[in-house]
Order: sequence, then structure tokens, then C-alpha cells
Amino acid sequence: MSVAFSKRALQKCEQIIEQYPQKQAAMLPVLHLAEKEFGHISLEVEQYVAGLLEVPPVKVHEVVTFYTLFPRERRGKYHFQVCRGLSCDLLGCNNIMRHLKKKLRVKVGGTSKNRRYTLSEVECLGACETSPMMQLNDDYYGKLTTSAVDKIVKGLK
Ligand code: FES
Repeated sequence: MSVAFSKRALQKCEQIIEQYPQKQAAMLPVLHLAEKEFGHISLEVEQYVAGLLEVPPVKVHEVVTFYTLFPRERRGKYHFQVCRGLSCDLLGCNNIMRHLKKKLRVKVGGTSKNRRYTLSEVECLGACETSPMMQLNDDYYGKLTTSAVDKIVKGLK
């Protein structure tokens, strides 16, 4: 199966590339666009992006494997990232993680069979004043308790 941007994403990609003096310089924003479009950055997506940017696929692969923010496999609709930094650790992130594993029936680094949830642990999310905290897709949730987690999960569509 070959991958290709939708017409709309391709237009957006062209707009992004136009903003840079060289196509290669647009790699990060184009990869973010590809992640949104395809849900992850597989080898096939890397090759597609390489073609768009007119660079060897290995150049894209180097960037994708350097940054942890590009998922290599398809994630669930809801991606829970529980902070395991020092401040969150001291304030109970282990408890939050244990609770989420049980509630979502997913192990750390895993995705539920129905592709609804992915659970990850991450280092400091830069919001230590609200420890313990997690990121759920693009949103941050702080001062977490297990009952707050229950409310958040219940509110998901
Ligand atoms: S240690 Fe968790 S946000 Fe900093």
C-alpha cells in the first residue's frame, strides 16, 4: 500500500515548503503534518516525505528516529502520557499510572485492542507546579488524583 497526502494536506504541505529557502528545511513541520494525516510515521511515510522534500529517505529516517515525538506505530485515539519526572514522582505519579493501566487495560507503551487508548510514560512535561500531571493528546491535566482521572476518562467520546 502506498501512502499519499489528501489534496488538502498536500496543499498545506506546499504552503509549508514555500516558507523555507530549501525544501529540506521544512522537514519538521512536514513530518508533523504527516503524523496528523497518517497517525504515525512508518517507513513508507518516511519515503513519501523524502520524495516531497527531495532528500534521500535516510535523511528523514534520521530525524524521525532522533525525536521521540514522532510515533513509529499507530497510536490510539487517546494518548495518555503520564509524567514520571522527579516532581511528579514525589507527588504520586506511580499511583496515577497504576490506576490508568487498570482502568484502560493497557500496559505502559501499549495500545488497547480497539485502538482507543495508548499509554506512555514521559519525562518532565515542564509543568512541575501542577504535579502529578499527564498530557492527554494536546491537553495537560495537573494535580491529578485517581478520581480526577476517572472523570477525564469518563468525559472522552
Ligand atoms: S516532573 Fe512532572 S511536570 Fe515536571
